[in-house]
Amino acid sequence: MKTIRVLVVGGAGYIGSVTAAKLVEQGYQVSIFDNLSTGHIQAIPQTAAFYLGDLKDSDRINAVIAEVAPDIVFHFAALAEVGESMRNPTLYYRENVGNSINLFEACVANGVKKIIFSSTCTVYPATQTAITDESTLLPQNSYGETKLAVEKMLHWFQSAYGFRYAVLRYFNACGAYGVLGEDHTPESHLIPLVLQTALGRRSHIEIYGTDYDTDDGTCIRDYVHVADLADAHLLAVQYLDQHSNITCNLGSGSGYSVREVIDAVIQVTGNHFQVVESARRKGDPSRLVGQSITAQRELGWIPKRSKLTEIVSTAYEWMCQHPSGYTGGNGNI
Ligand SMILES: NC(=O)c1ccc[n+]([C@@H]2O[C@H](COP(=O)([O-])OP(=O)(O)OC[C@H]3O[C@@H](n4cnc5c(N)ncnc54)[C@H](O)[C@@H]3O)[C@@H](O)[C@H]2O)c1
Repeated sequence: MKTIRVLVVGGAGYIGSVTAAKLVEQGYQVSIFDNLSTGHIQAIPQTAAFYLGDLKDSDRINAVIAEVAPDIVFHFAALAEVGESMRNPTLYYRENVGNSINLFEACVANGVKKIIFSSTCTVYPATQTAITDESTLLPQNSYGETKLAVEKMLHWFQSAYGFRYAVLRYFNACGAYGVLGEDHTPESHLIPLVLQTALGRRSHIEIYGTDYDTDDGTCIRDYVHVADLADAHLLAVQYLDQHSNITCNLGSGSGYSVREVIDAVIQVTGNHFQVVESARRKGDPSRLVGQSITAQRELGWIPKRSKLTEIVSTAYEWMCQHPSGYTGGNGNI
C-alpha cells in the first residue's frame, strides 16, 4: 500500500503534536513545519521530519511543501488568545489570516489534495442551548473572526482550485496523551492553570466574572480531550477520500463551569487553594457547549474521554511527570 505523506503545520504544539503522534502510530509518513513560537521540539515524534520555519515566510513554506510533496496538510498554526486578539486584532489578522493565505497558496502551487484546518467554537456566539453545526456564525472576538475568515477562504479557494478540505471547530481542548501534554507560556487555559495552582506553582486562581447568566454565575465551556480531537483528524482524512469537504463541531456535548473545573481539580489532586473572583474579561462568551452531530454521523466520531475528572486526571498525571513542562524538570521525553 502507498505510504501517505502528511505535513503537520504547527505539529510541535499541543493538539498538533498529539495528532502527529497518532498519525505516526497509523503508519503515515509525517513531516512537521513549525516556528516553535509556542510549540516544543520535544513534542515532535522522533520518526517525523522536522522543518523549522514561519508561515510568514512564503518562500520557506513553499519550498518545504515542494520538498515534502504531502498528500495532506494539517493547519494547526495560529495565535489563539481571545484577550490578546481583542487588544491587538492587527496581529491576529496578520498571523491567522495572512499566514493562512501563504500556506494555502503553497498548497495550491504544489498540488496538495487535502487540507485539514483547526477552527474553533469561538465562531459562534454564546447561547443557552447547545451549539449545533448549523448555529448562527457570529464571533464575539477578533480571534474567532480570523478563524471564520479562514473557513470562508477555504470555501472560495476550493471552488477556484479544487482541493478537498475539512474544517474542524474544536471546543476546549484539554488533557494529555501519554508523554504529550499542554505547555503554553503564558498559560491561558483553565485546566492547566487550576492544576498549577493546586500544585502550589501559582498563588491563586482567578475567576473572571461570577455574574454570568449561568447556574453558578461562572462561564461554561465544553472540554474535549486532546486525544479525541486527534482521532477526529484521522477520521477526517478518510472522509475526504470520498467527499469534497466537511465543516463540523468537535465538542463533547457537556458543559462545565469554571467553578466545576476548580472542584474537579480539588477532587483529583486532594489539594485546596486560593480562588479570587475578578471582573469579566472582554470577549468571553458566557456559555459555549457544542453538539457534534455532523462529526458523529459523517466521520463516525464519538468522544471517548468526556468525564471531567478523567480529563483532569490525565492532565494532572502529565504535569506531575513534567513539573516544568517540556523544557525542564524531570520525566521529559
Ligand atoms: N487549544 C484549544 O483549546 C483550541 C480550541 C479551539 C481551536 N484551537 C485551534 O487549534 C490550533 C492548535 O491549538 P493549540 O492549543 O495546539 O496551540 P499551540 O500554540 O500549542 O500550537 C500552535 C503551533 O503552531 C506553531 N505556530 C504558530 N504560529 C506559527 C507560524 N507563523 N509559523 C509556523 N508555526 C507556527 C506554534 O509554534 C505551535 O507549535 C490553533 O489553530 C487554535 O486556534 C485550539
